[in-house]
Amino acid sequence: MHYDFDKIIDRTHTNSVKWEFMQVMESEVTADTLPFWVADMDFPCAEPILTALHNRTEQKVFGYSSHDTPEFFQAVCGWYQNRFNWNVDPAHLAYSPGVVPAIGFILDLLTKPGEGVIIQRPVYHPFTNIIESRSRVVVNNPLINQDGDYRIDYADLEKKAQNPDTKVMILCSPHNPVGRVWQKDELLRLGKICLQNNVFIISDEIHCDLLRRGIRHTPLETLFPREQHRIITTTAPSKTFNLAGMQFSNIIIRDDELREAWALYVKGRLAIMGPTPLSIAATQAAYSQGEEWLEQVLDYLDENISFMQSYLAEHLPKARFSPPEGTYLAWVDFSSYGYTHEALYKKLVCQAQVLPQSGTVFGSEGMGFMRFNIACPRSVLREGLKRVAAVLNQETNPV
Ligand SMILES: Cc1ncc(COP(=O)(O)O)c(C=O)c1O
Repeated sequence: MHYDFDKIIDRTHTNSVKWEFMQVMESEVTADTLPFWVADMDFPCAEPILTALHNRTEQKVFGYSSHDTPEFFQAVCGWYQNRFNWNVDPAHLAYSPGVVPAIGFILDLLTKPGEGVIIQRPVYHPFTNIIESRSRVVVNNPLINQDGDYRIDYADLEKKAQNPDTKVMILCSPHNPVGRVWQKDELLRLGKICLQNNVFIISDEIHCDLLRRGIRHTPLETLFPREQHRIITTTAPSKTFNLAGMQFSNIIIRDDELREAWALYVKGRLAIMGPTPLSIAATQAAYSQGEEWLEQVLDYLDENISFMQSYLAEHLPKARFSPPEGTYLAWVDFSSYGYTHEALYKKLVCQAQVLPQSGTVFGSEGMGFMRFNIACPRSVLREGLKRVAAVLNQETNPV
């Protein structure tokens, strides 16, 4: 079937964090503010998912539930196999209500307070929270920004991985917010450095399905068949199929001992129950029947990115924007407009009435940048960019 992603869906009165709870991020928003911050899409869900949810609600009872069925694992593992030629044994999949909590559980199991965890800023900010809230130490291996083209600093990574206190690296692949989809040679070099120095890798691949046409994602662990026991991969239907509120993620843990320790800790000590019945229905339908919808979303996202690129070139020529290879997040450098970061952000929020994610949330490397979630109808994106252009073009020389 054909989906109409141009259609605006009213998300008010749905408890939407993105639309109805913007003030948790920024107190100065108004009823007219357009949200481009948190990473969920404003698109209608895939029809097979809606049908599965309707069918499940028709059954009328929502008791304790388990996803441990052959049909469920066939759907999830079949997806990995078809899209990435990636062979995942269902026995190696662990359930978590989210990727961020899962990263926290793994850090609890693999590290002690005071030990180091490598991240590559500017990077998805909950990585920092999850490390620091456990009294572990952030070891930053900043990405190198060469005119908007982000690269890994391998020499710095090697130095940091060699420190015996450094135990884990959290890799963001594809990378949020810079939008890089790491290529095989980059992943091989990074993986070798970590594994040779006994640094475990948590490879957060939640954005793995959201790729521009012609770009391929490589699951890190497929490059290290003999070292898979030291790589944990986090995946979820939440970004791919816009099911973040369903709170279901699939964590791939190859090492038998670590998986047992996970079960004891997560199920036993933390008493995290199985998934909700609706999340099981939605996840199974997504992975078994969601491909047609995803292909249409990917086309629409590509067009939104092209639209944004042309709009910025024409109306905000001093903004620097490299189209992301993956994700639906646009990472835009406004530093040439000459405002301090805080003044720029305030101008966008208070005058333009748009709410992007401020770049410095992802680390000081994000100074001058804003991240825009472009997974919305094009008319909303156009209106948001029009507001930004009107405000930034008001004064030519602000400082
Ligand atoms: C890299 C990355 N990891 C994890 C998440 C969130 O995962 P979850 O909602 O499953 O905790 C996001 C959401 O934007 C993300 O970008």
